[in-house]
Amino acid sequence: MLRDDLGQPLTILREDYSATPYWIDTVDLTFDLDPAKTRVVNRMTLRRNADVPAQPLKLDGEELNLARVLVNGQSASFRMEGKQLVLDNLPAEGSFDLEIFTTCCPAKNTKLMGLYVSQDAFFTQCEAEGFRRITYFLDRPDVMASYTVTLRADKARYPVLLSNGNRVDSGDLQGTGNEGRHFAKWVDPHKKPCYLFALVAGQLVAREQRITSRAGQEHLLQVYVRPGDLDKTEHAMTSLVYSVLWDEARFGLPLDLERFMIVAVGDFNMGAMENKGLNIFNTKYVLANPATATDVDFANIESVVGHEYFHNWSGNRVTCRDWFQLSLKEGLTVFRDQEFSMDLAGSASARAVKRIEDVRVLRTAQFPEDAGPMAHPVRPDSYIEINNFYTVTIYEKGAEVVRMMQTLVGREGFQKGITLYFERFDGQAVTCDDFAQAIADANPESELARQLPQFKLWYSQAGTPRLRVETAYDAQAQTFSLTFTQTVPDTPGQSGKSAMVVPVTLGLLAADGRALPLQQSGDAVPVAAASGTEQTLVLTQARTTVTYGGVTEQPVPSVLRQFSAPVVLEADDSDDQLLVRLRHDSDPFNRWEAGQRLSLRRILAGIAQEPAAASADGQVLLDAAYIDALRQLLRDATLDAAFKELALTLPSENYIAEQLDVVDPQRIHAVRESLREQLAHALYDDWLHAYEAHHDNGGYSPDPVSSGRRALAGLALGMLVLAARRTGDAVWPGRAYQRFKDAGNMTDRQNALLALLGAGHELAQPALQRFHALFRHEALVIDKWFALQGGAVDRQGQVLPQVRQLMKHADFSLKNPNRARSLIFSYCSANPGAFHRSDAAGYVFWSEQVIALDAINPQVAARLARALDRWKKLAEPYRHAAEEALRRVAAKADLSNDVREVISRALAA
Ligand code: TRP
Ligand code: ZN
Repeated sequence: MLRDDLGQPLTILREDYSATPYWIDTVDLTFDLDPAKTRVVNRMTLRRNADVPAQPLKLDGEELNLARVLVNGQSASFRMEGKQLVLDNLPAEGSFDLEIFTTCCPAKNTKLMGLYVSQDAFFTQCEAEGFRRITYFLDRPDVMASYTVTLRADKARYPVLLSNGNRVDSGDLQGTGNEGRHFAKWVDPHKKPCYLFALVAGQLVAREQRITSRAGQEHLLQVYVRPGDLDKTEHAMTSLVYSVLWDEARFGLPLDLERFMIVAVGDFNMGAMENKGLNIFNTKYVLANPATATDVDFANIESVVGHEYFHNWSGNRVTCRDWFQLSLKEGLTVFRDQEFSMDLAGSASARAVKRIEDVRVLRTAQFPEDAGPMAHPVRPDSYIEINNFYTVTIYEKGAEVVRMMQTLVGREGFQKGITLYFERFDGQAVTCDDFAQAIADANPESELARQLPQFKLWYSQAGTPRLRVETAYDAQAQTFSLTFTQTVPDTPGQSGKSAMVVPVTLGLLAADGRALPLQQSGDAVPVAAASGTEQTLVLTQARTTVTYGGVTEQPVPSVLRQFSAPVVLEADDSDDQLLVRLRHDSDPFNRWEAGQRLSLRRILAGIAQEPAAASADGQVLLDAAYIDALRQLLRDATLDAAFKELALTLPSENYIAEQLDVVDPQRIHAVRESLREQLAHALYDDWLHAYEAHHDNGGYSPDPVSSGRRALAGLALGMLVLAARRTGDAVWPGRAYQRFKDAGNMTDRQNALLALLGAGHELAQPALQRFHALFRHEALVIDKWFALQGGAVDRQGQVLPQVRQLMKHADFSLKNPNRARSLIFSYCSANPGAFHRSDAAGYVFWSEQVIALDAINPQVAARLARALDRWKKLAEPYRHAAEEALRRVAAKADLSNDVREVISRALAA
């Protein structure tokens, strides 16, 4: 067991939660901002929590210099217990004042937690436990206080001074020593936990917009950026306006502040942060114009702006009792931002595209997490470093759990549930149980209410359930039955799990694609929703059989439509059945899924072939039926381009790896690449047709229809250039290069460059050089430039030496998380074909970078550490080499808790 310097166990347990011994009612903070030495005076009013036994007050603090402690204005005695400041003899009755004066050094804060400097401006990041790096405090989310904040700083260097809430006063400071200095005073009208505190100070400019809510309330919206970036703020502002309107319209949740600010910062550990009224964003999720940002960037900005805004209710007005409840706010808020993007997308097809993209993230990132050493429940039971638990499980699986609740109670019922949740818990810090109870209580007759205790296993049991389906058609009796068997795999620390509540939406198709009517014989299985031809069954047993009557022909089952539950579906549909669904399934998600299964089957067959029997680069045998089906889809005039692009994109290498017990990343890469190349040739005329029909988009707009057209044109161009590899054709590489040069927007430009890189064409190099020259002053584009190279297809083992070379580039820096991620993560975490080298050089590089990053920024280092999570599944020689690399990192003295936790879990038996 890992222990801290006092010999205390480092592991925090959910079952150890106890209520706070003191409440902090008000906080008055005064900052004298100075990069080398910032002075913080913290005046609080506290009182004992009468519900718990009397005990000393223990305040959290980290990397602070303590100058003074006053209780009710008198200097008080205190002691240190590890990092905590302990006060023993405090008044038992009534409230008392506590004043603490500390200093800290923002300029040296490379962890980017607490108060730090980025490009000569001040920013804060307090979630989860960063506030203790600003002042001594009860740094836990269930202590909610009213904040008043005064910022004092040099006026020329830091003209803009921001904090949460409303600015109530500002002006120049008087007196000696205050020449050229000014101040601003902010009052937040809402109580909040300290993790939502924020301040910003620096030379910034704002795009502003005033809006009037449905209720007639006026608000000022601001997006603050560095002076050169104002021309990249329109999309973020538009997204913010839509977010405000949407939350009011869909959930009846209004903006509760006069002023709502977003600030962009170039050095940031994650995507963005929902500080009350003062959201702080990674520049990547704010800044966009058509020349610098891709369609994916535009879509991400919309999602993240929405996400942080929606936290204003789901997270801020109702917050988490403790960090084990993190998914209470994150799962719900991801669900809300997903629904927001779907509602904005409009058409049914565009909604389905968004759903497919979300499921793809879940299956390529969360399923592996759930099957690996870091597997944890949506509501974890223990952690060493909470920062390691901002995971795809908490966020994306958590969102799926909320989505299942909506499926079980219906959309209207869910709306009612949300209303009850916010009425019941407004201003409180609560638990995942409280949320589920509120949704159930608002829908007492629902399957959710009936099965609530079992449903909540989704919060406590880790691991992705496997759902096997076997079918039987009885032509005589005209019945069709499906038998579902459910198993939940063991995960670290959890075994022998119970069956979960699994909503399964399904339909039956005739061979010609007609939807067949559904009539359960006996109504043995409860149904949460039904139309004539579709039902959502609620499975609660390890084994369930459902039988439909009046089925006059052998049907093709379409199971788990819309991905109605986050499970692995095991079905042995024949190729013919999958082809029927690829042509006709009325559910776009399952239509896409049928295509993915057909492709996956062929890739797995190619991998299973004796390597010697297959051609050198893993040739897959392709059948005419499969090719024809893809051709028809590509030529289908009724389908949206965005859907076609998704359906014609092969499953990712990571997703393929998940299907295998023993993983040879090189072989997966070779077989997938070979299939791609064969499709490039077999569908050549169709790619040509698709490119010609979609490549000219006129003026740029990031809407779903035109971004879908650009995506399909990009895929087609990639295929045409890839086909040229074998034929030696120079025309398409030339056209790609031309398009790269002339592109009117970043999406087309990047796709053209990717086409050249993906084919390993010699024109990729001059294109990269030109790309750098064009955008050398655009940090976010230079990130793309590094990422393209770290993620490049590795044909001669050239990627790693290039990555090492690029680390010496003048534009590279390990300190800037975006830059580190762009090069190092693109290589180690997103380029398996290049990273898993038989000479182990990729792993050596990884261990060096984990250690180097850990000394700068443990949070970022720990994310990189996870690149080898699944090492145990690797084939030799990779497995052995990966283990050695892990041990090398583990052997390093004074690793951060962040990295230590990830590495020791990976190495644990
Ligand atoms: N709560 C933030 C979100 O989901 C993310 C977040 C958590 C974060 N911890 C952070 C951001 C640390 C930056 C740094 O939007
Ligand atoms: Zn969030």
